[in-house]
Amino acid sequence: MIKVPRGTQDILPEQSFKWQTVESIIRDTCNVYQYKEIRTPIFEHTELFTRGVGDTTDIVQKEMYTFQDRGERSLTLRPEGTASTVRAYVEHKLFGLPDQPVKLYYMGPMFRYERQQAGRYRQFVQFGIEAIGSADSAVDAEVIALAMDVYKKAGLKNLKLVLNSLGDTESRTAHKEALVAHFSPRIDEFCGDCQKRLEKNPLRILDCKKDRDHELMGTAPKLTDYLNEESASYFERVKAYLDALDIPYELDPNLVRGLDYYNHTAFEIMSTASGFGAITTLAGGGRYNGLVEDLGGPSSPGIGFAMSIERLLLALEAEGVTLEDSSASDAYVIALGDSPKLEAMRIVKNLRDEGISAEMDYADRKLKAQMKSADRKKAKFVLILGEDELSNQTIQIKEMATGEQKLVGLSETVSYMQQKMNKEESR
Ligand code: HAM
Repeated sequence: MIKVPRGTQDILPEQSFKWQTVESIIRDTCNVYQYKEIRTPIFEHTELFTRGVGDTTDIVQKEMYTFQDRGERSLTLRPEGTASTVRAYVEHKLFGLPDQPVKLYYMGPMFRYERQQAGRYRQFVQFGIEAIGSADSAVDAEVIALAMDVYKKAGLKNLKLVLNSLGDTESRTAHKEALVAHFSPRIDEFCGDCQKRLEKNPLRILDCKKDRDHELMGTAPKLTDYLNEESASYFERVKAYLDALDIPYELDPNLVRGLDYYNHTAFEIMSTASGFGAITTLAGGGRYNGLVEDLGGPSSPGIGFAMSIERLLLALEAEGVTLEDSSASDAYVIALGDSPKLEAMRIVKNLRDEGISAEMDYADRKLKAQMKSADRKKAKFVLILGEDELSNQTIQIKEMATGEQKLVGLSETVSYMQQKMNKEESR
């Protein structure tokens, strides 16, 4: 038997309604905040990610699905959405639009060759936003507020926002030098990757999974102690805006994020629900003031975040939040006999024409079996048409929630249902 590839999953109807509910919460929230959707290709030139995400990151070094196409170009399935969004911002000269920042959102599959575990997949769906073209610290707070709002609207309560500042280039250079001085004398006790990182990007050492417990990790110089005045005051303003929006946060000087483009604000949102797996990060993001320029555009500061829908759904489950299946059918039509079945087909069609979701049995089963089906499918109304009803030009309509049953004239079926479903005014 052929199964799905490791790290991927099928989403069957019993789950997909949850995805649809969450997706519509996301789209509504983006609309309320006036972020507009951008759709970029699933694959890009590999160089976009080596330059954009950074060639010392785990994502680029170990996790990309890279292949050559038949024209011998190196392409990569996108591991994240920021690089593509910024590429599009540059390619389509969105920096020239009069209203900056340009506020964009995306939702779609991303691919990373990671070890599979609860909450970690090789194909996962990210929802992310990017606000590009403004260095205003109020935008940082808006981006964080949007992420928190999505989680709250979905019904999550046990959330923690963790915040850090990575400072500007000058602060980072000072911190880098301190890191090199700290790790150099004992770098031979670290893994090969870390030894390479010492020269190229010492900050990445703090992110290493293998050497996590080395004693030098805990005593490493903290970036927050190296922030210059401008970076520190920028961070203070971000915090003041978050306070103004009543968004609580915890400061974590060790939060460095796994992608190279960040500076200034970096944040993650975690689930604190007991029963949520080992991976507690629901979303991550931050500011990337140099990325547009790195990808060939003019200097345009940006900030954004991304979250995976999979982890959002896992968190809902851990908190016991149930999402309502709004796709349950309005009407289940039961026909008993050949002539009633002919008429039932017509009724189902007429109901559907009016936007009422309707279905019927296609196995000619007995009344009891069909009633059970209607129940399982959570139909709101059951319409029963037997030979007697048909010869009297009537139909039984039962409201499942109340048990109330009424004999209705066959020709009034649709209007009765419309009235019942309160659909008239919406038409
Ligand atoms: P990231 O931290 O690599 O950041 O990923 C963001 C989120 O994507 C994670 O917090 C998690 O919810 C989800 N995620 C990542 N990898 C996996 C996986 N293997 N399985 C399931 N979910 C996963 C970025 O991707 C940045 N582009 C975020 C950003 C946008 N920064 C600025 N703008």
